[in-house]
Amino acid sequence: MDQRPNTTLDYSAQELHSVLQKTIALVIDQYDKLEQQKGFHAFEQKEVASWFDEPLPLAGSDALELLELVKERVLDTATGNLGPNMYAYVMAGGNQISTIADFLVSTINQNATKWHLGHAMTEIEKRVVAWTAEMIGYTPEAGGVMVSGGSAATLTGLTVARNIFFRKHNVNKNGLFGMKPFTVYCSKETHSSTDKSVSLLGIGTNNLRRIATDADFKIDLTALEQQINADIAAGFTPFCIVGNAGTVNTGAIDDLTTLSAIAKQHQMWLHVDGAYGGLVSSLPELKEKYAGMELADSIALDFHKWLYQPFEIGCTLVRNWDVLRESYFKQADYLDTSLEAKSDRLEFNEHYFQLSRNAKAFKVWMSLKAYGFSKIQAMMQKDLDLTRYLERQVITAPDFELKSNSDLAIACFRYIGHDLPAEKIADINQRLIPTLENDGRVFITGTRLNGEFVLRACIINHRKTEASIDYLLKVIRDVASTLV
Ligand SMILES: Cc1ncc(COP(=O)(O)O)c(C=O)c1O
Repeated sequence: MDQRPNTTLDYSAQELHSVLQKTIALVIDQYDKLEQQKGFHAFEQKEVASWFDEPLPLAGSDALELLELVKERVLDTATGNLGPNMYAYVMAGGNQISTIADFLVSTINQNATKWHLGHAMTEIEKRVVAWTAEMIGYTPEAGGVMVSGGSAATLTGLTVARNIFFRKHNVNKNGLFGMKPFTVYCSKETHSSTDKSVSLLGIGTNNLRRIATDADFKIDLTALEQQINADIAAGFTPFCIVGNAGTVNTGAIDDLTTLSAIAKQHQMWLHVDGAYGGLVSSLPELKEKYAGMELADSIALDFHKWLYQPFEIGCTLVRNWDVLRESYFKQADYLDTSLEAKSDRLEFNEHYFQLSRNAKAFKVWMSLKAYGFSKIQAMMQKDLDLTRYLERQVITAPDFELKSNSDLAIACFRYIGHDLPAEKIADINQRLIPTLENDGRVFITGTRLNGEFVLRACIINHRKTEASIDYLLKVIRDVASTLV
């Protein structure tokens, strides 16, 4: 296909039409093949690298041929995130209207930074913040921003926590130099993004207290209080508790009401990591377990998990917009237009670290409008029901044992075979992960619970059925039988 010579990068109308037609065909083909989608394709690293090993292309190539190449090397070899055979980490299957939204939003290429650079996108993001607060029962006054995911959402929440809590020291200007060490508390089950945030914020992981958990992997409240009191006695300044609204290992939900009371008693900030489980609190049957989340000073959420969004999108909520602005606003001549102060225009660049930002909220807005939140909730409920189904299959099978007791959509279990010695069982389960990866039919990863290696299945995908779960166990059995 000929491209227009030199004047612009654009294709002619006719060329664009055929490129889009071909793209549509590729997208439809992905959905047509969902049922058969493998969890993983076991290529050697060197082989994949060789597909892309070429010098910087100075001359362009035919777009239709390029799309064929993309189909062969990228689309058809993709890890099976969309389909029913993905159980690793926390991989939601995305959804179709959000895929379309991402395409449209890149087409108009809005910069969701200043109101007058993307007025509709700014108002949509504000609306999504308000809807999110409503979904989880947080204050309607909440301020918030869309960020890249759960890690960024916790970094944002803890940045605001640090800057607002130490407002009197003006850490925004002075940094942390010369201050007495201050301490952050979380359970030992807390996601590593809290550790990363604490390092990035100059607090240092030596000042992050990872507190023991109870039998259900929830933070041990007595141990927490003892540690806070010991730290105060030793001259530290306890300033923040990170509570879990669904841990990554087992979906454990800390006692958030008591964490809030402890935080209040010591004038500390309460940040809740709801990246994995926060959104599922909208289900009436789980509401009670999340009691206290509404009292948090900041909450991290992840829409590419339980709102089934394509990567990347997370969200930080705080109790009001002012704390975001206080933390992030920096005057700059090239951003002043004299329009900001005297209008109701909300400037997202004044409320977040990034200046240029893509309009992430658009796909959430489109999903909520297209499907309605009730339907999304029904999918969340289905994920929970399928996880309970998996647990029942594991409990009743003689060759599996269940190792976790979750309210959410994670089941940890081991293959135990028949009359195998303990060391053999431990060895098989460790070897199962790489062997299953090589097999490729399903993709599952593991974790350690109290030091013991277990298989961990996470079920956040509106396309799974009971048959998918049966298939998972069948494939594990098949592959395990080669390791006995
Ligand atoms: C509890 C929890 N917090 C934080 C994260 C990090 O989220 P992201 O991968 O979107 O950065 C995850 C991811 O699985 C998580 O489960």
